[in-house]
Amino acid sequence: MLKTIRIVAVALTVVIGGLGAWAWWQTQQRVTASGDGSGLVTNVSIGGPFTLTNHLGETVTDADFGDQLRLIYFGYTFCPDVCPTELGNISLALDELGDDLEHVTPVLITVDPERDTPEVLRDYVPLFHEKLVGLTGSREAIDDVARAYRVFYRRVEDPDYTYYLMDHTSFVYLMGPDGEFLSMYNYGTAPTEMANAIRHHIAG
Ligand code: NI
Repeated sequence: MLKTIRIVAVALTVVIGGLGAWAWWQTQQRVTASGDGSGLVTNVSIGGPFTLTNHLGETVTDADFGDQLRLIYFGYTFCPDVCPTELGNISLALDELGDDLEHVTPVLITVDPERDTPEVLRDYVPLFHEKLVGLTGSREAIDDVARAYRVFYRRVEDPDYTYYLMDHTSFVYLMGPDGEFLSMYNYGTAPTEMANAIRHHIAG
């Protein structure tokens, strides 16, 4: 009986994981370049309301960024390569904005809230940019906001180590002052390209 339950559980995990990957792949198929250099666009709805906790321990909602553009990235502090690289690119793009930086708030939303407490984020986000806001929350709240942004991730155990990693999609989302989706950028987009696209949206 126990064995049957275990087999069913494994089968369910495979099916659910497969569905997640399929949904993610479907989303990627609908991502196209905007044509005017402002970034990638998609006809899939992206974004939505959230209530999370920032790296200072304060409650933050999607409505708390005033008339700022929001540059949103999903990742986690334990990430060995992809997140530091992309957060570094974001930081370079922000530095290229000059005076336009005042119109943009960069945000890191963790997909690993179990390890990424506000305290951990508080030590991490200033390494990349003084304006970077780190957001965490309950596993449920993180799952909800990740789903709204079509972010796919999964926990990966490594039998050789005592820690785990998170596989995750790596897009940077540019959202408007009302939280509306403006465009997104692939992992590895050149900082200058991202800065130009942000300026394009600031100019309106
Ligand atoms: Ni990462």
